[in-house]
Amino acid sequence: MLETIRNRRSVRRFLPKAVEPEKIQDILKAAFFAPTAKNLRPTEFIVIQDRERAEKLALATPYAAFAKHAPLIITVCYNTANARRFHEDCAMAAENIYLAATALGLGCCYIQIGDGTEAQVGPPEAYVKKALGIPLGYRVLCLMAIGYPETMPEAHSDSEYDPSRVHHERFGQP
Ligand SMILES: Cc1cc2nc3c(=O)[nH]c(=O)nc-3n(C[C@H](O)[C@H](O)[C@H](O)COP(=O)(O)O)c2cc1C
Repeated sequence: MLETIRNRRSVRRFLPKAVEPEKIQDILKAAFFAPTAKNLRPTEFIVIQDRERAEKLALATPYAAFAKHAPLIITVCYNTANARRFHEDCAMAAENIYLAATALGLGCCYIQIGDGTEAQVGPPEAYVKKALGIPLGYRVLCLMAIGYPETMPEAHSDSEYDPSRVHHERFGQP
């Protein structure tokens, strides 16, 4: 598990190869296994493999542009009627998606749609909701772009561990 966490990197360049249905299923299961506040399970997921739809989503913000070439995009949504801590619930699911993709030899990247002032399409969340036919009462936290990586990025290294940001018992105490 620690090895998978270390190997998880954001991947933005993918091979033009479809992700196998069994792998998609495993990634979705991992998303459903994520913890949710009060176990309310408000998350919903939209699986996108259609090229035209991916191209449309890639316009949501300038930081989503690479998703145009993603063989798979999983949109992480939530039911507002059923969510107390929706950001946390969706972020937990998103991290499980990242880790499951990594464990399956895939690359993945989180795409935020909370803001995107430079985008041509207006507020990104409203744009994504419209593009995917998401009804009232549901919101979107992020898009997870997934595919076989063009190149395997370097794993995280121990040098990123920064003891100056770790405090014991009280802030400021090494
Ligand atoms: C909340 C959040 C929002 C992010 N939004 C984007 C995004 O819109 N586009 C993108 O290419 N990467 C996005 N990323 C990926 C980060 O850029 C990436 O995690 C960071 O550079 C660290 O690299 P690593 O994931 O390889 O460790 C986002 C990550 C998080 C956690």
